[in-house]
Amino acid sequence: MTRPDDFTLPEAEDFDCPHAQFAHLRGHCPVAWSNDLGGFWAVTRHADACEVLENWKLFTTTVQNVVPPVATTQRRPPLHLDPPDNIPYRNAILRFLSPSRLKAWEPRVEQMVARFLDPWIANGGGDICAGFSFQLPIALLAEFFNLAPDQAERIRVVGAAFNMALQRQDMPELRARSDELYGIAEALIADRIAHPRDPDTDPTANLLAVRVDGEPLAHDLILGALRQFLLVGIIAPTTFIGSMAVHLARHPDHHKDLRDDPSRVNDATEELLRLYTPYRGFARTARQDTDLGGKTIKAGEAVAIVFTSANRDEAVFDDPHEYKLDRPARDLLTFGRGPHMCPGAPLARLLLQEVLRQLTSKTVKLTVVGDIEMTRWPEYGPLSVPLKVTPV
Ligand code: HEM
Repeated sequence: MTRPDDFTLPEAEDFDCPHAQFAHLRGHCPVAWSNDLGGFWAVTRHADACEVLENWKLFTTTVQNVVPPVATTQRRPPLHLDPPDNIPYRNAILRFLSPSRLKAWEPRVEQMVARFLDPWIANGGGDICAGFSFQLPIALLAEFFNLAPDQAERIRVVGAAFNMALQRQDMPELRARSDELYGIAEALIADRIAHPRDPDTDPTANLLAVRVDGEPLAHDLILGALRQFLLVGIIAPTTFIGSMAVHLARHPDHHKDLRDDPSRVNDATEELLRLYTPYRGFARTARQDTDLGGKTIKAGEAVAIVFTSANRDEAVFDDPHEYKLDRPARDLLTFGRGPHMCPGAPLARLLLQEVLRQLTSKTVKLTVVGDIEMTRWPEYGPLSVPLKVTPV
């Protein structure tokens, strides 16, 4: 069945226009159909987004979990499986992100941020995405998975190329890089089988050690999970760091406030995660016809949960477009909700807080000196931000 468009996507986006479009949709057509990107419903209000995320029996993740759809032949748990099948894969990563384990990451993250940020500042800045935010999250993931230095370097290069191909929607390049990432994951599994490690300290060894009803996880699903873990955590921080930099450049007073009072950095990170939520296109597929937001969604249709919009819903957040550090409640959907809520959120927060802390303490001013290039669906945020830096 063909449907008329409730909205279409602009040919090119700037930093602000997605927010203006989402504000319009929330007010006029909160569950809106577009024939772009393969055809999908955009769910832009906070309450409707929660309904889709929590009602996983009606809205499955096993068909299309991102808009636009990425043609894949392989399942990548936990995101591609509904409960309870996703749970062993989630648990396999969650055990490495307990509060005590996270504490041990603090000094490592601090050093890692400095290692990549200091040279960028010393050079007077440049594109913060290419020069900093494309490098850092991949380096963190490489340490998280105990990769050997040569593997870490390879995943850094391939991951950055994959990320860029995804952003530019270069499908042949994307497939080639995806295959390479599967190759890296396969080699990692083979290495851990040949040279066993302690499952308590190595996420890959842990996936191999998991038993469900006494049986190990299927090899192709371990492979898919590793491939997902190696990438899922790098894309959002990459673009979000660009958004943080744009915000600081536009609001030197906020920059100064954080330099003067670093105790506000964690609150500021939360507020920026609300204002510039990096994901807008995670999706589900309706299992049967259902009504939502005054529209009838047909079985089989894709539904994008527009986190970027839900976090600026005026029904939940007063003055939703304003930066306010004293909000009484932050019912953020930045990291999702329900059975697929991001297990990496504590590590992501730690990383982003440290980036904001060092960026504001080591620089006096950031100035945008060129065009900001933006990502596309399913992300929101810059792909390139040329900046001049005034160091402290
Ligand atoms: C700013 C950084 C990040 C953001 C905004 C983010 C956001 C999200 C969101 C919204 C989801 C839910 C998707 C859905 O419901 O369809 C998700 C899932 C996931 N994230 Fe993150 N994420 C971030 C960083 C990370 C990191 C650093 C890791 C790994 C250490 C990670 C691992 C995962 C995994 C494995 C899933 C799938 C969980 C499941 O299906 O059970 N993420 N993330």
